[in-house]
Amino acid sequence: MARHLITSALPYINGIKHLGNMVGSMLPADVYSRYLRQRGHDVLYICATDEHGTPAELAAKEAGLPVAEFCAQQHEAQKAIYDGFALAFDYFGRSSSPQNIEITQTIARELKTNGFIEERSIRQVYSLDDERFLPDRYIVGTCPHCGYDKARGDQCENCTRVLDPTDLINPRSAISGSDRLEVRETKHLFLLQSKLADEVEAWVDEHGKDWPVLASSIARKWLSEGLHDRAITRDLDWGVPVPADTWPELAAEGKVFYVWFDAPIEYIGATKEWSDAAPEGEVRDWKSWWYDVDTDVRYTEFMAKDNVPFHTVMFPATLLGTRDKWKKVDYVKAFNWLNYYGGKFSTSQRRGIFTDAALELLPADYWRYFLMANAPESDDTSFTWEHFAATVNKDLADTLGNFVNRVLSFSRKRFGDEVPAGREAGEAERKLGEQIAQLLAEYEGHMETLQFRKATQTLRALWSAGNSYLEEKAPWLEIKTDQDGAALTLRTAMNLIHLYAVVSEPFIPSSSRAMRSAFALPDDTAAWVSPDEARALSAVPAGTGFTVPPVLFAKITDEDLASYEERFGGDPDA
Ligand code: MF3
Ligand code: ZN
Repeated sequence: MARHLITSALPYINGIKHLGNMVGSMLPADVYSRYLRQRGHDVLYICATDEHGTPAELAAKEAGLPVAEFCAQQHEAQKAIYDGFALAFDYFGRSSSPQNIEITQTIARELKTNGFIEERSIRQVYSLDDERFLPDRYIVGTCPHCGYDKARGDQCENCTRVLDPTDLINPRSAISGSDRLEVRETKHLFLLQSKLADEVEAWVDEHGKDWPVLASSIARKWLSEGLHDRAITRDLDWGVPVPADTWPELAAEGKVFYVWFDAPIEYIGATKEWSDAAPEGEVRDWKSWWYDVDTDVRYTEFMAKDNVPFHTVMFPATLLGTRDKWKKVDYVKAFNWLNYYGGKFSTSQRRGIFTDAALELLPADYWRYFLMANAPESDDTSFTWEHFAATVNKDLADTLGNFVNRVLSFSRKRFGDEVPAGREAGEAERKLGEQIAQLLAEYEGHMETLQFRKATQTLRALWSAGNSYLEEKAPWLEIKTDQDGAALTLRTAMNLIHLYAVVSEPFIPSSSRAMRSAFALPDDTAAWVSPDEARALSAVPAGTGFTVPPVLFAKITDEDLASYEERFGGDPDA
């Protein structure tokens, strides 16, 4: 038994996430956490909303709410959806929490003490009418490249070129529309990453050799382009304030830390939130997960590829620069993009399927299974409704759901409400047991190495093995001439159902619960099954009471498919 710390990239607060976000961070982290818990490990799965930065301010403005209120609302909205997806976080925190503010400030002070943070003057656009400095995206104007008249100071949305606010023609404030702008000197804190570059590189060399290529190659690419010093404060009303005891002048000017400085620190902050929220009588020690625990805790991070540089280079640089004993990541599981019919899911254009809409349509397990079976691990993958419907119908409804229902209903009809005894296991059962044990060992291997697509393929193979066995034995024929033989077949098949309930749990937790609770067995049967136990196929003894659960997975009909495509827009090129 080991201690596993698991985090998934913190979903940004500015809106409901789409399925691409889900499959690239929170869902695989949940699947992995559930698996490790089943194997008896001590797991802490932490996530939170990422609440600072200009997009949060802008989204609040658009919603017509004070930013604090907007974030509180959106946090609850996202949390409800993640509950709906059965994401079993140990804690779902908020980067705006007092805990994160405190730890972020502590880390900044440590960095300053060690000479890795310095004040520098820079020139920035100031709006006379708004009486504030404007971050790049708060300045809009005409793009010098394509003439688009609502280009933002950081990027033109029309031609996607990266801009500097001073490139814009007729620049004006995005807040007030005022064009009374001027460039002023202002001070900001800089993180001197250049001084840490060699150390970070050595750290990546040592720790990154076991990461998946996607993560280590992005880390190396960033390092090879050079680690530059970076402004880590902003002129915003909302954010982690620069601590007044350390930088009185900047604090008085109301500077806050840049969102990418405090966001990863919230992994630690949220763990302290979890600690502070301990119910009476329960001891939760956040430090025992994060502080001076280099080899006692294994820390795995989940994220999409755009987040990799921040997690493999910048956050480690921050932590290394503290010269303190903060735990750093051991394994970075990164994902490519899930596309929607080959194009991008887009939050701003509302293209694709959003997590709230998905749950209105179908239960979480359908999505969880499909997404993990098609997780963009080695390449970008595409969502299409046809593929989704075919996968649900074939794997979940036909292969798994139908097996469960068929076996249990038939046995009840012929042998009553208890698992029938029948004859001793024979050659067919011995062969089946061998096959199951081998597949289970394979499945464990994939899960241990975080290869989720392969794990779902093996899961499917386990389900199929049951179907083949049933077809071969054909208990509905067997029963005509050999009652004991049919009973053995059904008892064996029921043991498979129980095994499926256990091993499928990380992917389809609520269907697994339904399968498991079909049998009147003590609760500890949810625990993992070793390949040896699986070989025996005897966890559910004859005489165990059972019920027939309602149909586990409904098929997606052609009419359903047509209506989904109509509602969400199917293939744009069709
Ligand atoms: N909110 C960021 C995104 O959506 C991810 C932040 S991850 C963290 O891309 F580590 F910084 F928290
Ligand atoms: Zn442009």
